Amino acid sequence: MKLTAFFISIALTFSVATASSSDFSAHLAARESRISRPFTKSTNATDNGPLDGSTTEDLYSTNWAGGLLESPPVGQRFIDVGGTFVVPTLRGNDGAMSVWIGIDGGPNAPQSILQTGIDCYIIGGVNYFFAWFEWYPQDGFEITNFVVAAQNTITLRVQAVNSTTGIITLTNESTGQSGSLEVTAPDVDAALQGQTAEWIVEDLEQDGALVPLPSFGQVQFTDAAAFTGVVEDFASVGVAVDMVQNGGFVATSTINQNIVTVDYA
Ligand SMILES: *[C@@H]1O[C@H](CO)[C@@H](O)[C@H](O)[C@H]1NC(C)=O
Ligand SMILES: *[C@@H]1O[C@H](CO)[C@@H](O)[C@H](O)[C@H]1NC(C)=O
Ligand SMILES: *[C@@H]1O[C@H](CO)[C@@H](O)[C@H](O)[C@H]1NC(C)=O
Repeated sequence: MKLTAFFISIALTFSVATASSSDFSAHLAARESRISRPFTKSTNATDNGPLDGSTTEDLYSTNWAGGLLESPPVGQRFIDVGGTFVVPTLRGNDGAMSVWIGIDGGPNAPQSILQTGIDCYIIGGVNYFFAWFEWYPQDGFEITNFVVAAQNTITLRVQAVNSTTGIITLTNESTGQSGSLEVTAPDVDAALQGQTAEWIVEDLEQDGALVPLPSFGQVQFTDAAAFTGVVEDFASVGVAVDMVQNGGFVATSTINQNIVTVDYA
C-alpha cells in the first residue's frame, strides 16, 4: 500500500476517554500509570550486533522491539506513518504489551511521540484489547468504541499536519470501517520533530517498573512505511530493535522491505 493512496472509506466517529475509563477493573488499575514511553536503550548492550541472525545491526532496548527509522533524509521530516498488523493471541502468564506505530520517540527525538495502537493484556488466561492514542508525554487516551479482538487485522496511521497537530486513524481491514481523530500536542515542548518513525511492540511500565511481557508469538507489521512529503521510506531503511531484559532477549525483530516481524523470544 502506498501511503499516498490511503483513504478512508467509511467514517467512524471515535469515542474517546482517558485511559482509565474501562469498566474492566484490573485493566483500569493497571493502565492508569502505564503510559507508553520513548525508546529506552538497554544498558546491557555494549554494542549492537546482528544477534538475531539478520545481516543488519540491531538496536537493543528494554521496552521496544520492532522497526525504527532513525532519521529522515536530510532536511525532511516524517509526517505520515502507516502499518497493518494482526492482533496477537496472548498465552500463558499475566502480562501486558502494546502494539503501535508512531512519529518520534526514538533515540533522536525522545521528547515527544505521536502514536496509536492496541494495548494487549492477558489476565488469568483471558485476553483483553484496547485501542488508544497518545501524544507523549501526555497520558494515553482509550478509544472506547473501536472494539478489538485477537486475530483482527488492524491498519494504523499517524499523520503530522504540523508539529503540534496530528491525525490518528485506525481501520478494521475486515470491514473497512475506519475512524480518524485530530489530536493536538499537550504543549510546545512536545512539538514533533519528525526525526523518527517506528513500528513497535512495547513492554509497558507500571509504577516505574516494566510489567511482564506476555507470550505473544509473533506480531508482523505489513505495509510498514513512512512518508516525508517527498519520499516514502520502507521500514528496511531503518534498523531492527530487539527487546533485552535482565541480560536476555525477550523479543527479536527482523525487517524485510516494508515488513517488520517481531518474535517473542
Ligand atoms: C472488525 O470487523 C469484524 C467483522 O465484522 C469484527 O468481528 C471485528 O470485531 C472488527 N474489529 C474491529 C477492531 O473493529
Ligand atoms: C497546525 O494545524 C492546525 C490545524 O490545521 C492549525 O489549527 C494550527 O494553527 C496549526 N499550527 C501551526 C503552528 O501552524
Ligand atoms: C545484564 O546482563 C546480566 C547477564 O548477562 C544480568 O545478570 C543483568 O541483570 C543485566 N542487567 C540489566 C540491567 O539488564
